Amino acid sequence: MTVHRGPREWDAVRYDAQPLPHERWGRGVLAALPLAGDERVLDLGAGTGRDTEALLERLPTGHVVAVDGSAAMLAQLRDRLAGVGPQRLTVLRADLTEPLVLDRPVDAVFSVATLHWLPDHAAVFRSVAGVLRPGGLLRAEWGGAGQLAGIESALDRLGLPRIGQTCNFATAERTAELLCVAGFTDVDVTLTPDPVRLAPGGELEAYLGTVVLGAVLDGLPAERHRSVVDAVVARLPEPTVEYVRLKAAARRMAD
Ligand SMILES: C[S@@+](CC[C@H](N)C(=O)[O-])C[C@H]1O[C@@H](n2cnc3c(N)ncnc32)[C@H](O)[C@@H]1O
Repeated sequence: MTVHRGPREWDAVRYDAQPLPHERWGRGVLAALPLAGDERVLDLGAGTGRDTEALLERLPTGHVVAVDGSAAMLAQLRDRLAGVGPQRLTVLRADLTEPLVLDRPVDAVFSVATLHWLPDHAAVFRSVAGVLRPGGLLRAEWGGAGQLAGIESALDRLGLPRIGQTCNFATAERTAELLCVAGFTDVDVTLTPDPVRLAPGGELEAYLGTVVLGAVLDGLPAERHRSVVDAVVARLPEPTVEYVRLKAAARRMAD
């Protein structure tokens, strides 16, 4: 079967209906970002715009640039933020595996649950440094080394590709090194297990099918999706998604 690379499409409506730990992760990243209220902030991998909306609330006279590669996610974001004008919000569809081009630099970069989707972190951090003003802050979280161990082992036993074949689950040490090489300073990266328990018999299956196994299911015919999700669930010792999260804080070096 083929392993998908580059931005994939998401079922954005189903995504927003899930019990997303991303909401908690987003609140954590936002709390770690000091803002005066008039800055221009990039939401990298903005998805359906949940955190873009929260960022706009923290930026009464500022601006958010929301970037994502999925048309469906951005359609949901546009619906959510329909009342927000272009002086406050820019929505951009772009493939983040390519260098990002913005018409002017941003004061801060914010990102939740996105960077593991991008295989070449050296290139991504260079790209982020390229759109961030000197002295500007990066605050991000995403999946790191060891993430989804139980699900990866279930996929192995089913002869299916690991999620780690599509996603880059990096270590804290390597991430910190690459941020420094890309021109960041005051780099602080942590890696923390954050297992999320879900209710089996519906909630877990819907969550895995929509959020976790999407890239694996993309390579399979639609009629197999349900049985593959059920087979993975049957092989999990606990109804738990074993998240391991990287959290990064860094500042772009002054020129
Ligand atoms: C798990 S979602 C997180 C979305 C949002 N930040 C949240 O917390 O709900 C990952 C997001 O990364 C985006 N993404 C993944 N790979 C991408 C790529 N190569 N280019 C642009 N966006 C990408 C997806 O479209 C998706 O919206």
